[in-house]
Amino acid sequence: MRRVVASAPGKVTLFGEHAVVYGYPAIVASIDKRIYVNAELREDEKIRINAQDLRTSGVIVSISNGEIQITTDYGRTLSAIGYLNKAIELTSEYLGVRKGVSLEVRSEMPVGAGLGTSAAVSVATIAAYSTCLGYELSKDEIARLGWEVEKSVQGIASPMDTSIATFGGVLKIWFEGSTIYRVPLHVSSELPLVVSYVEREKSTRDMVMWVKSLKDKHPELVNGILEHIGRTTLEAEKVLVEGNLREVGVLMNINHGLLEALGVSSRRLNEVVYTARMAGALGSKLTGGGGGGASIALTLPDNIDILTNVLRLVTPHVFRTNIQYEGVKVNHLSD
Ligand code: PMV
Repeated sequence: MRRVVASAPGKVTLFGEHAVVYGYPAIVASIDKRIYVNAELREDEKIRINAQDLRTSGVIVSISNGEIQITTDYGRTLSAIGYLNKAIELTSEYLGVRKGVSLEVRSEMPVGAGLGTSAAVSVATIAAYSTCLGYELSKDEIARLGWEVEKSVQGIASPMDTSIATFGGVLKIWFEGSTIYRVPLHVSSELPLVVSYVEREKSTRDMVMWVKSLKDKHPELVNGILEHIGRTTLEAEKVLVEGNLREVGVLMNINHGLLEALGVSSRRLNEVVYTARMAGALGSKLTGGGGGGASIALTLPDNIDILTNVLRLVTPHVFRTNIQYEGVKVNHLSD
């Protein structure tokens, strides 16, 4: 196959981020926003990447020490490109073949906000490139290669994001050494979720490193918090399967408090999380790495308009989402 388009979904971590890095279980769901990677083999050996369609959250204006500072999300786009490059390199090594390829990337969601875009980029690139080369990798192989990409770019990573980008749905996931455990959960009711995001002050890598340093300094305390996050996840599994949304909300709030104790929330994130609760959310929490970025709020369907409108008063970046069960998908464009 010379021309292929592959896509993979973004995700929200319903429970267990950060603790999952240390082997505790997390519950993660794929959402109805995807990343698309078009791949076309080249006659030469070059890797060309066109990522001009990567949507970023734009220009950030902040005031620090009385001075106005303006930054852009350009760096985040560059970081997404790092995952693309690594995905090509590791897939070539795995298959023992390397060919030049032109890649075009498009995202339906903000990049680097905590919605698993780096994993979706990696997984879609592995699927598109390997198909172009004439290989049909299994989902297990794609997820495993994706995890290697994340570990090699980030230093430390759990297999959570790359698993959900590959398999889709709602998964309980944990790992021991190199063994990954994935249990699909059958959630018995709709999960009306509102995602909001604020400017990201730190990357996922920074936040994972921060938790590691805190754990090295205060092992007993931090291990206790991580263990409680793991327990929250296990309690959440039961109420999610029963469709008891009120209890799911309560556990989301507990999970957010534990993440706060780890120091991975921020003033702006807390503002959004608490505003959501004031506007009638059943529960709300940061999602993903933290340090700014995305948060989720769960609500009953009849409150979704109010919740969305109130959240827009504190950040312009608000969208509704639903779980979407489709993982990585490949379409052949031509031979
Ligand atoms: O920020 P995201 O969407 O890449 O999510 C990171 C989730 C962590 O648990 C903090 C890290 C990981 O590798 O699982």
